[in-house]
Amino acid sequence: MSNETVSGDAFENLLREERKFAPSEAFAAAANVHADIYAEADSDRLAFWAKQARTHLTWSKDFTETLDWSDAPFAKWFVGGEVNAAYNALDRHVENGLGDRVAIHFEGEPGDTETITYADLTERVKRAANAFEALGVAKGDRVAVYLPMIPEAVVTMLACARIGAVHSVVFGGFSAEALRSRIDDAEAKLVVTADGTFRRGKPSALKPAVDEALAEDGHTVRHVVVVERNKQEVAWTDGRDLRWSEVMEAASPEHTAVGHDSEHPLFILYTSGTTGKPKGILHTTGGYLAQTAFTHSAVFDLKPETDVYWCTADIGWVTGHSYVTYAPLVNGATQVMYEGTPDSPHQGRWWEIVEKYKVSILYTAPTAIRTMMKWGSDIPAKYNLSSIRVLGSVGEPINPEAWMWYRDVIGGGQAPIVDTWWQTETGAIMVAPLPGVTATKPGSAQVPLPGIAVDVVDEAGQSVPDGHGGFLVIREPWPAMLRTIWGDPERFKDTYWSRFDGMYFAGDGAKKDDDGDIWLLGRVDDVMNVSGHRLSTTEIESALVSHPWVAEAAVVGAADETTGQAVVAFVILRGEADLPTGENAASEIVLTLRNHVGHEIGPIAKPRHILVVPELPKTRSGKIMRRLLKDVAEGRDPGDATTLADPSVMHKIAQDLRK
Ligand code: WTA
Repeated sequence: MSNETVSGDAFENLLREERKFAPSEAFAAAANVHADIYAEADSDRLAFWAKQARTHLTWSKDFTETLDWSDAPFAKWFVGGEVNAAYNALDRHVENGLGDRVAIHFEGEPGDTETITYADLTERVKRAANAFEALGVAKGDRVAVYLPMIPEAVVTMLACARIGAVHSVVFGGFSAEALRSRIDDAEAKLVVTADGTFRRGKPSALKPAVDEALAEDGHTVRHVVVVERNKQEVAWTDGRDLRWSEVMEAASPEHTAVGHDSEHPLFILYTSGTTGKPKGILHTTGGYLAQTAFTHSAVFDLKPETDVYWCTADIGWVTGHSYVTYAPLVNGATQVMYEGTPDSPHQGRWWEIVEKYKVSILYTAPTAIRTMMKWGSDIPAKYNLSSIRVLGSVGEPINPEAWMWYRDVIGGGQAPIVDTWWQTETGAIMVAPLPGVTATKPGSAQVPLPGIAVDVVDEAGQSVPDGHGGFLVIREPWPAMLRTIWGDPERFKDTYWSRFDGMYFAGDGAKKDDDGDIWLLGRVDDVMNVSGHRLSTTEIESALVSHPWVAEAAVVGAADETTGQAVVAFVILRGEADLPTGENAASEIVLTLRNHVGHEIGPIAKPRHILVVPELPKTRSGKIMRRLLKDVAEGRDPGDATTLADPSVMHKIAQDLRK
């Protein structure tokens, strides 16, 4: 990626984004961290992290060395220390007299609720720890977790952590086949699942997928513990399958947590890479907990006594691990956990929940924000959202229009937005504004957190000057970094540490603006090259979405003989938009949008084709599957669409295009 091409017309649009929103004086004064934290971290990075580790965690044995990087890129953080994740998330709060504080306000999809205090949750985790041990799960053993968003998911993860077992959570939307390959790769001894959950008011089964996954012999699973959630009929394998309620009832509520080595494996989480085989990202205990807890406190300005925090991520993804199960509980927060979809039974469900629990910190994904935008501002307007004081975004670049909508419509034009860049591999937030310090810019994650050495470099690994783009890298090890790919240390080195000497390569393109703020431009595999100009899919999507007619857009680079690649855009129109009507309406819409992109970015970025579609293909984690769209754009059969949240989407698009 040469500087000349990246700093061309294509990036002018984002760079012209000049709106800035400084924190109010009151917010800044009361914030958990202030501007001096950057200088403190800069003056001694390791001392800074050692301080965070000791401030946010209770160690059963103090560490003697902050970082051992002698076997790079295999890091050891807080060497010699011992710490128990579950003790930090639970027991110590109860010991500190906070047993009656609500840990989880659970809201089931059908409307059932449960209020779980720290004392309750501690007892449940102790029972589960005893129950798992009684089933032969020992320190270091792997446990596969295939559960919906219910409190038992958190209980299971923390019970594993308590006894030193390594959980591998598999998102409930993954197929039996995907579950089996993950069980096999990690050689899991135990599977914890549920009969099922609820989706849009109807029961949705989970246990049959586990049965199917384990149908063929040759696996390592001895027992399957089944939470009775939706009470649907399920097949039963005597001897192997056990009811959660019975197992927990039989277990003692007394269990003493012992410290585990700081580098003891905490969990494996599979994520997709550029190749077909998912990577088992391994996280360990001390560093992961220290950075997740610190970032949760600093980036969301969490006040555990008064805030009600809600992260909408599923525990099947890293955001659900770090910012539902671990950090909020380690920090003693009160959080909301919601089982269902945002539109069940109506499109105001999220806002109803915010009003009901007086949610003050909301952490969600741009795709959700854009969906809500599409549904219309009148829906959130029906609810009292005045409790909200901080808004977070994660998972993909957030386009300025969605950012402004989030701030104005959800945040009452007041709440700071923290756009947080990180990855399954980084374990915790790496780049984000600090809400009481940073003047935020719509669409930019802006600044590496204190103690984090993120940079943007060119092809040769040289830091690019402000105003230029390149590749996002991390120059120094960080506490919550992945330690390896489970069972494949070579792949770990190749994937992340071989592209640039001594640096972690994240796989994202990024740009520094004239202030040195960082703008994420999407995966480098999503960067297009049109007539020698590099264009970011994100950028064109952002331009399209800035048009009042467009609700959502996905852009791909389709192979083109003349220009290398051509820009092809798929757009969903807004239901409430004032669209042209009449005979030439369709071509008028396309022409208008092409010109709009030309106007926003420059003629080079004008999509060759704009296809109006009813829906976009998305993975179950909400990421647009550009690969499938590329197939359509290049006239190929999109092939395997089974990893989509809704596999029929591609069919709908193909049908629509034939019209
Ligand atoms: C993208 C999710 C822009 C990025 C925590 C990264 C983002 C990938 C942002 C990791 C953001 C995540 N702005 N892009 N704020 N956050 N990404 O592993 O491409 O599911 O590499 O972790 O999501 O996705 P993952």
